[in-house]
Amino acid sequence: MTTVSASAPGKFVILGEHAVVYGKPALALAIDMRFSIRVSRSDAYRVNGQPATPYNMSSHMRYISDRIGTTPVSVYVDGRVPSGSGLGSSAALSNAYAAAISALEGLPTDKETIARLAYEAEYASQGRGSPMDTSASANGYGIALNVPYREEDFLWHIEKDGNSWDVSKIEVPHMTFVIGNTGIKAATGPLVEKVKKYTESNTFAAGIVDEIGQVTLDGLDAMKRNDLEKLGALMTYDHKLLSILGVSCNELNHMVEAAIPYSYGAKLTGSGGGGCMVALTDRPEKVAKAIRSHGGTPYIIHTGVKGVTVKVREHEGHRHYIKKKGRDPAEDSE
Ligand code: PMV
Repeated sequence: MTTVSASAPGKFVILGEHAVVYGKPALALAIDMRFSIRVSRSDAYRVNGQPATPYNMSSHMRYISDRIGTTPVSVYVDGRVPSGSGLGSSAALSNAYAAAISALEGLPTDKETIARLAYEAEYASQGRGSPMDTSASANGYGIALNVPYREEDFLWHIEKDGNSWDVSKIEVPHMTFVIGNTGIKAATGPLVEKVKKYTESNTFAAGIVDEIGQVTLDGLDAMKRNDLEKLGALMTYDHKLLSILGVSCNELNHMVEAAIPYSYGAKLTGSGGGGCMVALTDRPEKVAKAIRSHGGTPYIIHTGVKGVTVKVREHEGHRHYIKKKGRDPAEDSE
């Protein structure tokens, strides 16, 4: 019997969310919160030992199973990325599941192949969006979309709906970020749709999207110079631009304001409407306290996190499986 374990990280966006959907630049970092998955062949689809239903098997998983044309599998899922919170949980799930099923079927599991398949799953489920989350999760570490890059940093090029993205690696200096989770779940699709309607009906909103693109390029430049004051100021400015686009909310605004006295800058991260904010700081404990005092859950983020990992194990009968039962599949990944 073959068992495959795979895992993939969540991400947060330093700059560029929403505008990236229209092919503008964006910067994203993988975070040390992962989705881990273990799959083996089965007589019927099961998720965590239960028959698969729309409640325990996401549309992303169904899409990937159909695309690959796998026979039924038993899936164990251990998700450590909070869902609906702007941290790329569905991208991490899609990457981990795509890698696990591909390996089970003897198909390639290189990062580019997985990033592309996971993006198709995200796109099919979400209706629209950029390959930022899936690329950040597949590659790990730090990535940029649509910024000038050195040839050796190029990762892959993806096109969809008349937009195209050059994904490249970025060198990330040592920085400390604190993420604050409002605990309000907000699905990405409707927020992306809201921005689309706004930009299509209003040239001012289209101008804001362009401005976010420029702020992101300036932020990359500041990051390269290790100018955290400048990068932080751009993050705070970007939060204002995103608020004008209508994707912030009171809870996010309060947490951003509370974090700013102890930070270089702060902003919402991901699709907004709830979910998370992020602060760049060298006083993480103070920021964490400020977030808590506004009802949020803080996570002090460690970056430099590897992307999708996969490990195949061949074993006989049930002996090996029983030995492994109850283990966190993340321990099995490399
Ligand atoms: O909320 P998340 O983690 O799904 O991030 C979405 C980022 C957007 O730019 C809003 C959408 C996208 O597909 O790029």
